[in-house]
Amino acid sequence: MELHEALYTTRAMRRVGTDPVPYDVQARILDAAVRAPSGGNTQGWRFLLVDDPAVKDRLGPLYREAIDTLWKTVYAPRVAAAAADPDSAESRQFLRVQRSSQWLADNFERVPLFLFGFVQHDPTGGSIFPAVWSAMLAARAEGVGTALTAVLGIGHRDAVMEVLGVPPGRGWHMSCCVSFGYPTGRWDVAPRTSAHEVAYRNTWGESVGFEVPEPLWPANGAAYVANSLAGEAE
Ligand SMILES: Cc1cc2nc3c(=O)[nH]c(=O)nc-3n(C[C@H](O)[C@H](O)[C@H](O)COP(=O)(O)O)c2cc1C
Repeated sequence: MELHEALYTTRAMRRVGTDPVPYDVQARILDAAVRAPSGGNTQGWRFLLVDDPAVKDRLGPLYREAIDTLWKTVYAPRVAAAAADPDSAESRQFLRVQRSSQWLADNFERVPLFLFGFVQHDPTGGSIFPAVWSAMLAARAEGVGTALTAVLGIGHRDAVMEVLGVPPGRGWHMSCCVSFGYPTGRWDVAPRTSAHEVAYRNTWGESVGFEVPEPLWPANGAAYVANSLAGEAE
């Protein structure tokens, strides 16, 4: 797959089927992931793959509790705003993400594979994320959908570490949990606020000097045609 196709179309693909992700595909994904940079090239990371139904059965209730808490705390104002005005563009967008996120929570045990990312003695916490994103891009190239989640960190980090047998007291920090599976929706270019609206040059607030009103890929404004699967991407 062309690099730009992966960069532009790696969306949060939470809705996936139950088909397992074969080990050779998992190996290619992780082998690509560990090429990523880390601070000082310390590679102080661990990637824990979870596909055992018994382990997923223990994690699913924690995931659902965490997402319930998220809606009632961090996202409470947006939940209320969407309830008050469900037809506004902002509410529709939020409700789409909420439905999709809730689907992942409700179907946690049916998702074939999760990758938990851990980082050790990393004060920035950032050293794991290039590798995690590389894993997600590599999965995209394999036709495997992914969704990066951090919600388990809300109140359940210790319980998850215990379920996963992470040795305590050695500085391991759980950074994220990424779901993997074959999507039921279709790939699409991620719609985002344009680069020139979120970028400055030299001084905060100063124009970056160019405008990109439409995605530059596919070239010449061509519509992206996904190579597979019908359905709605969310
Ligand atoms: C740091 C981080 C944390 C995230 N945590 C969650 C999460 O806990 N649950 C979830 O369903 N999605 C989570 N996401 C996924 C985002 O909601 C998703 O990337 C965003 O809505 C854009 O989706 P799109 O690429 O399909 O447009 C997280 C993404 C990031 C980068």
